[in-house]
Amino acid sequence: MAEIKDRNTMGNVVRFTREYFDSIFVEERLVGAKRASLKMELFGEEFDSPIMTPAFSHLKTFASERENALCEYSRAAAEMNQVNWVGMMTNDEFDQALKTGARTIRIIKPYADKDEIYNRMEFAEKNGAFAVGIDIDHVFGETGDYDCCFGNWMTYQTEEDLQNYVKATGLPFVVKGILSVQDALACQRAGVAGIVVSHHHARMPFAIPPMMILPEIVEALGKERKMKIFVDCSIDSGVDAFKALALGADAVSAGRILMPGLVKEGCEGVKACLAKMNGELAEMMNYTGCGSLDKMDATVLRFKDGRRVV
Ligand SMILES: Cc1cc2nc3c(=O)[nH]c(=O)nc-3n(C[C@H](O)[C@H](O)[C@H](O)COP(=O)(O)O)c2cc1C
Repeated sequence: MAEIKDRNTMGNVVRFTREYFDSIFVEERLVGAKRASLKMELFGEEFDSPIMTPAFSHLKTFASERENALCEYSRAAAEMNQVNWVGMMTNDEFDQALKTGARTIRIIKPYADKDEIYNRMEFAEKNGAFAVGIDIDHVFGETGDYDCCFGNWMTYQTEEDLQNYVKATGLPFVVKGILSVQDALACQRAGVAGIVVSHHHARMPFAIPPMMILPEIVEALGKERKMKIFVDCSIDSGVDAFKALALGADAVSAGRILMPGLVKEGCEGVKACLAKMNGELAEMMNYTGCGSLDKMDATVLRFKDGRRVV
C-alpha cells in the first residue's frame, strides 16, 4: 500500500483533527433508552447507515495490491446498502463503479476547462449516478499556483459557477471542501443539495478541524435548511461518526480507515470495517438514548473541562 501523505510538518492538520475528536466526551442517557436504528433517508432513497465510503481516487497507486480497488469498495457499499462516493477518474472508470450497483456520488475536480466538468456531470446523470459534485478545495497547489493534476489545470469556482452546475444537472449537486460559514452560505444561496465539511486530508496547512467549524455552519444554515451536511476527515470509528452526527451532520464518510481492509481483503475487508463502525455508532446511540438519527442531540457532548460543545 502506497504511503498517504500526512502533512505533519505543515500544521499537523491530521493530528489536530484527531485530537479534536478525542477531546469530546459523551454523557449517558439510559432511562427509557431503546436499541437504535441506523436507517437513513438521503435524496429520496433509504440506506442502512449514515456512514458512507469516501471520494477516493488514484487507487491504482494507493492500493496497487488490488487489481480493481475502486470496484471492490463500491461493491462493499452496495452490499452494505450504504452510500458510495468516488473522486477523480475517467468516465469509464466511474462506469465500472456504477456497475457494482452502488448508489454513487461522483465528485468532479474543479477543472479550469469547464467542459471537463459539464461532460462528467452529463455522463453521471445519463449513467445512473446517485448525485454529483465538485471538490472546491482542490484548486491550489503547494507552490502557491493553481494546481495541475495529471496534466489538468484546476481553477477557482464562483457562486455563479456553482449555481450553473446546480441548474445543469437533474441530480443532487454537492460541494466538497467546506470549512467556513461563508462558503457554506454561498453554497446554500447557489441551491446546492449538500456540502461536505472537510479539509480533504489536510490540503491547507493549519486547516480547522471540520468538527470545530461544524456547529457554526449548522447554526448559520438554520433549522429550516434543505441542504444536507456531510462530514469527513478522521472519521475512524463509529464513535467519531456519532460525535459528528450529534453535532448536526446528516451523514459522514470514513476514508483512510477503510484502506488497510481494502488492500488486504478487498470488498470483504471494507465490509468488515463498515460493519464494525456501524456497530460502534449503534452502541453510542443506544447509550445516549437516541433511538434514531433524527433524535441525535448535541447536548450529550462535552469538552474535557465540562463545557458543552454547543
Ligand atoms: C488515495 C486518496 C484519494 C483521494 N481522492 C480524492 C478525490 O479524487 N476527490 C476528493 O474530493 N477527495 C479525495 N480524497 C479525499 C477524501 O475524500 C477525504 O476527504 C480524505 O481522505 C479525508 O478523510 P479521511 O481522514 O477519513 O481519510 C482522497 C483521499 C485519498 C486518501
